Amino acid sequence: MKLWGGRFTKEENQLVHNFNESLSFDRKFYRQDIEGSIAHVTMLGKQGIVSKKDQEAIVNGLKGILADLESGKLEFTNEHEDIHSFVEANLIQRIGEAGKRLHTGRSRNDQVALDMKLYCWDELGEMDGLVKALLENLLAIMEENLDTYMPGFTHLQKAQPITLAHHIGAYFEMFSRDRSRLHDIRERMDTCPLGAGALAGTTYPLDRDYSAALLGFAGPTRNSIDSVADRDYVIELLSAMSILMMHLSRFSEEIILWNSNEYQFVEIDDAYSTGSSIMPQKKNPDIAELVRGKTGRVYGALVALLTTMKGLPLAYNKDMQEDKELTFDAIDTVKGCLVLFTGMIATMTFHKDVMESSAKNGFTNATDVADYLVGHGVPFRDAHGIVGQLVLRCLERGIALDDLSLEEFRAMSPVFDEDIYESISMRNCVERRNIIGAPGQKAMKQVIETYKKQLLGNN
Ligand code: ARG
Repeated sequence: MKLWGGRFTKEENQLVHNFNESLSFDRKFYRQDIEGSIAHVTMLGKQGIVSKKDQEAIVNGLKGILADLESGKLEFTNEHEDIHSFVEANLIQRIGEAGKRLHTGRSRNDQVALDMKLYCWDELGEMDGLVKALLENLLAIMEENLDTYMPGFTHLQKAQPITLAHHIGAYFEMFSRDRSRLHDIRERMDTCPLGAGALAGTTYPLDRDYSAALLGFAGPTRNSIDSVADRDYVIELLSAMSILMMHLSRFSEEIILWNSNEYQFVEIDDAYSTGSSIMPQKKNPDIAELVRGKTGRVYGALVALLTTMKGLPLAYNKDMQEDKELTFDAIDTVKGCLVLFTGMIATMTFHKDVMESSAKNGFTNATDVADYLVGHGVPFRDAHGIVGQLVLRCLERGIALDDLSLEEFRAMSPVFDEDIYESISMRNCVERRNIIGAPGQKAMKQVIETYKKQLLGNN
């Protein structure tokens, strides 16, 4: 199809075509493009804008194209500019004259706005399912590890004892918020741009409510200019995905640390690890590293689209074609990361004993020794100083606070008694923290119940 005048040489024309075309990537939403066209022509038929006979021929033609594309019988050919031209040309080839009526009352501008929306909608649904599966796995790990003690960290220094369930619960919260962000986006993007035309609606008596309903939207968009110029929901999606990746990346970083020789808190299953080509002893956490690494790619897509959109006058501009490759790539990346990450943590071994002894050897119960003193009338500031000195003593001898003799405790403060050992035991340190949000089993069980309801509630 020749769109440009004679001042272009053939070679230049090809370069322009290559630069301008989008079929090489917008073929990804051929299903949504056909689905949208079927809804559009069904509405045209109902309104008497095309005859019932033409409507039927077009719908059947479109279904044929869809079936042939799915089976591989029909292949994409590069001479077409985009998926919209490809489908239309193919339809005309199949059914002749009637096919030329499909595009009545429609522009590629509202068509592409619709296709992208439908595609993102479908992908959002899939992504939501993957996040849900991750949450279910996290919940299972939590339920099994309510009394798996480990050090909690601040500044990557051992701080206070927590449980593995509590730590994993922090990620459960993060991914729950990610999920609710995905749900929010769907609510705001639930309007159908079909009928906006190029930018100013059309003169045909389209029933926009009807085509919107056919496609499952809550209703039509309310401003035709905005309908073809809006990519906010894509930016929201990229933003939600960036935050999700940030969470996956933080978790990956911890798993990489935990899986290291120094920590040995976990062991990533062989199926999710790779070896080194030179060092036979190595088992590398490549999957976690790749998830962490791919985060940058998703952020990149967000910044790229924000930048593309920021200077665009209303309404449609071809710049907006740039939304696709990066969004498709970001979506595929996030979905891939979710699947692999979930598989990795579901098969990972937690070395509970190592975690627990790490918590013991890191003075994570120092605050509890201070609390003990406070409980016996010592002002907190003094207690802090006393425990600091006890820690110093332990460090000199390479022992834990629990290993000090009662005499040694008493040398620092006479209020110490035999019950100090019980009060600063790992179990006690954790189990005494039973306010909502804390690691104690009672509190955790309560929270887990709300998580369960939450997961059952939104499927
Ligand atoms: N490939 C174009 C895009 O992705 C489709 C819309 C083309 N519209 C136009 N007026 N040239 O944005």
